[in-house]
Amino acid sequence: MNDQTPFVVPCSERVSNLPPYVFATLFRMRDEAVAAGRDVIDLSVGNPDVRPAPAVLAALTGSLEDDSWNVHRYGTFNGLPRFREAIADWYFERFGVRIEPHTQSLPLIGSKEGLANLMRAYLNPGDAIILPSPCYPAYFGAAHLCEAEIFELKLREEDGFVPRLEDIPLDVAGRAKMLILNYPNNPTGGVVDLVFFAKAVDWCRKNRVMLVSDAAYTELGYDTENPPPSVLQVPGAFDVAVEFQSLSKSHNLAGWRVGFAVGAGEPIGVLAKLKSHVDFSLFGGIQMAAVAALKHGGQTVRDNRAQYLHRRNQMVAGYRKLGWQVPTPPATLYIWARIPRAWGDDDFAFVRDVFAKTGVLLSPGSGFGVHGRGYCRTSLVAPDAQIAKVMGLLEGAGFDWSR
Ligand SMILES: Cc1ncc(COP(=O)(O)O)c(C=O)c1O
Repeated sequence: MNDQTPFVVPCSERVSNLPPYVFATLFRMRDEAVAAGRDVIDLSVGNPDVRPAPAVLAALTGSLEDDSWNVHRYGTFNGLPRFREAIADWYFERFGVRIEPHTQSLPLIGSKEGLANLMRAYLNPGDAIILPSPCYPAYFGAAHLCEAEIFELKLREEDGFVPRLEDIPLDVAGRAKMLILNYPNNPTGGVVDLVFFAKAVDWCRKNRVMLVSDAAYTELGYDTENPPPSVLQVPGAFDVAVEFQSLSKSHNLAGWRVGFAVGAGEPIGVLAKLKSHVDFSLFGGIQMAAVAALKHGGQTVRDNRAQYLHRRNQMVAGYRKLGWQVPTPPATLYIWARIPRAWGDDDFAFVRDVFAKTGVLLSPGSGFGVHGRGYCRTSLVAPDAQIAKVMGLLEGAGFDWSR
């Protein structure tokens, strides 16, 4: 007789050793509250609440019926030549950096995908990767999946969240294959100039390390006289650096999954090779929409920047009125602040208590790395009226907000 005992095939150790993704945990908390009928205002994830530009929507829908090609078939592995050419044009217009479109750019199913696949393409088990800390949480899981050794390079508030490269121990530098930098920075809002990028390029060249620049927020710097730079503006940067861009925040396309990588032909080719085995690039209609966004989306980017600036000012003023002295970030759609003194370093307890009392969901700093402990992130993804409502709810909670 067959044995009918139920059984479970164990997943790989790589996956069973993965910690839960911080936002998956938060979403569970949120969804349970919503299912229980509670009003929730979710300021945890940087998930833009504004719709994409009409021209971008039209490019997608237009592609569906376009008789000159059949967008519904499999596309090409490395993305549409038109998208790659638009990437090169935009890089030149925005940063003055020349990219050879067909060998030095690669469309991605969101930059999260590209970052994880680049790690997979380069990191062997035991190789070290240097991550800024705090950082975008997806870096941790992607590095864990490669069984890489993670070194968390501390970003200090007193340094404007710019790392001290001299903090990297010599032995870690010796084992490291990648250094990730992310400016403007999630979650801290920190920015850097080309002087720092030149130092980082130099450090990577000396230590034979690939510099991965996650540039998802370059269009959300509030000092429009000094817009955030690309690392590729540094002379010689193509020898060591690969840069990732995202259309999620700049063009309100987070759910569409579209970004791209640029850099020297070698790493872009390696990433393209890996991807040809695991995906089939993005849907052509989304690529046509991305072309429209890069070519004609300047106004959307300016409107977004103005709107996030307005929300930032409203939120910072509101928190300070409560007695929570948060800093004013120079970029991004986030506010990063030490939690009020009453919670010590326990940022998860702070987030849980705020949520339980008010239905406002924030992100606990520990989810962004060991050096995020004791901090909290607010995403500016609610319209003015909702931000005013949030402030009323927080005031009504009766907490002591002082730091
Ligand atoms: C620093 C950083 N990099 C990359 C991403 C991923 O963006 P995408 O939507 O392009 O995958 C995010 C998303 O929040 C981010 O904050």
